[in-house]
Amino acid sequence: MGLGITGPDAPVDWDALRRYAIEVMGRAYAPYSNFKVGVAGLVDDGRVVLGCNVENAAYGVALCAECGMVSALHATGGGRLRAVACVNADGEPLMPCGRCRQLLWENGGPEMQLMTPRGVQTMSEVLPDAFGADDLT
Ligand code: THU
Repeated sequence: MGLGITGPDAPVDWDALRRYAIEVMGRAYAPYSNFKVGVAGLVDDGRVVLGCNVENAAYGVALCAECGMVSALHATGGGRLRAVACVNADGEPLMPCGRCRQLLWENGGPEMQLMTPRGVQTMSEVLPDAFGADDLT
């Protein structure tokens, strides 16, 4: 799966990325919260990786959609996330939770673009002063 978009300067097709997110949102397993989430990430090689939230009767072990997407990123060959669109059940942009912003930071870095309810923002805007791998050195 891909958008055929490669290279760091190629424009991001946000409408297509959002459509992918809406499609995978429909496969979310959220019988406890009834809050379905879908997310699509454009990888730097043009791949698109997807995730949806998967809940559990033990509520606390629910998997956020972004967790599934990051797992798919690595399972399908790795790379860096360039752009991410996360949506709710209405297909509207959804702000990733704090834990998931950390996951996006690790796999996309400060320049990664995120579709938010306030428009496209970078990771450094939505997770300022982030803790990251550089802090471990
Ligand atoms: N959820 C996500 O999938 N991603 C987020 O960034 C926020 C929350 C899910 C977790 C849970 O299944 C449901 O939304 C309600 O919190």
